[in-house]
Amino acid sequence: MKQAHTTPETFLGVGYTRDRAGLPLEAVRVPVPQPAADQVLIRVAASSLNPLEYKLADLNFMGRTPPVVLGFDLAGVVVGVGHDVSRVAVGDAVAAMADLNGDGGWAATGGRGGAYALARQFLTVRKPPSLSFRDAAALPMCFLSAFTAFYGAVQAGHTIYIPGGGGGVGHLAVQMAARVLKARMVISSGGRPQSITLARQSGAHFVFDYKRDDIAAEIAELTNGRGVDLVFDATYNEQGFVETAKTVRRGGSWIVLGVGPGKTTRLAETHSPVDAILAERGARHVNVNLLRYFSEPATLDSEARGLLQRGMDLAMEWATQGLVVPHVSQTIDSTVEAINTGLQSLKAGNGVLGKVAVIVDRDLVAVASRSQ
Ligand SMILES: NC(=O)c1ccc[n+]([C@@H]2O[C@H](COP(=O)([O-])OP(=O)(O)OC[C@H]3O[C@@H](n4cnc5c(N)ncnc54)[C@H](OP(=O)(O)O)[C@@H]3O)[C@@H](O)[C@H]2O)c1
Repeated sequence: MKQAHTTPETFLGVGYTRDRAGLPLEAVRVPVPQPAADQVLIRVAASSLNPLEYKLADLNFMGRTPPVVLGFDLAGVVVGVGHDVSRVAVGDAVAAMADLNGDGGWAATGGRGGAYALARQFLTVRKPPSLSFRDAAALPMCFLSAFTAFYGAVQAGHTIYIPGGGGGVGHLAVQMAARVLKARMVISSGGRPQSITLARQSGAHFVFDYKRDDIAAEIAELTNGRGVDLVFDATYNEQGFVETAKTVRRGGSWIVLGVGPGKTTRLAETHSPVDAILAERGARHVNVNLLRYFSEPATLDSEARGLLQRGMDLAMEWATQGLVVPHVSQTIDSTVEAINTGLQSLKAGNGVLGKVAVIVDRDLVAVASRSQ
């Protein structure tokens, strides 16, 4: 293993220290991990918030033994690599996603740095110089969610409904469908004026208010009664699932992110009419779940690794081309308080637009922006 000599032995991360303790997260001192053969050790410059982080604190559903440091989206500089790593080298600026059943890279040092995280080689990509650490760190989890949902499913000319086009996953999915995959019509929704605006700016041709409009009727009218070819629902909303399932055309696809209808709480399964609605239309129900890739990383086959690696490459490429660009509505320093406030807002579902970026190391971020 090659490793930089200045790396400390421990760092002060942000995470949970007790099983299913939920928010607030705490500062916790943990060892700087050592990269295994296919892993990269990253000195973290920036990260972003994802709902997964409060959900793991609430439910610890990966079955980890706390303490668990959170902050899975990563951008930073490589300081160590395992002996099988050839895709990146020590000193490279990278974007990456940490294993979801491992530790992340939030530090409790208020943007003064000092966080280190591991990522698999196939989930680490060189960051183009024109892309900031902040924006690079806003991409991995949300971009890969949209990318794996659309991969092989979307064809040019399709009509697509993406509810929640102002959300972290939603706004990237709208951009991808409209600007890269050449969907003929992208329809989206939001429940707040600012999320409706972001969905529009992201390229949606029609955006409805899910709290007021009869979206199924609007979509029926827009598609001459046919329905859309494909729905991508990343809203984790049971009532919303029922509504969006009704908008799929006969023989179309309803793609849901995560565990899917009836299971969103993870605590108890509830009855959901979604499958009956889809069956009536002969529509496919597809579950896309990034967590599945990480519950047993050792069992990932080369096809799955290749897909995620391709996704990371395209995230950088499309962002630098201005095609799929994260909207960072808020940038916070990496403190326990700021992270807890941001996660509380995400959990309440009322204060976050696009992505919230976390600056873990202001010096690294400043050096990179001066050299651009
Ligand atoms: N398992 C996986 O592989 C995986 C991966 C990534 C994310 N996820 C999950 O996917 C979900 C979304 O993640 P995110 O980062 O995009 O969260 P987010 O930024 O909080 O976005 C959620 C969006 O859903 C919208 N929404 C809520 N209820 C809706 C409804 N009834 N109809 C239409 N839109 C609705 C919200 O719109 P308004 O704000 O306008 O109300 C918001 O824009 C989270 O639950 C996350 O944990 C799962």
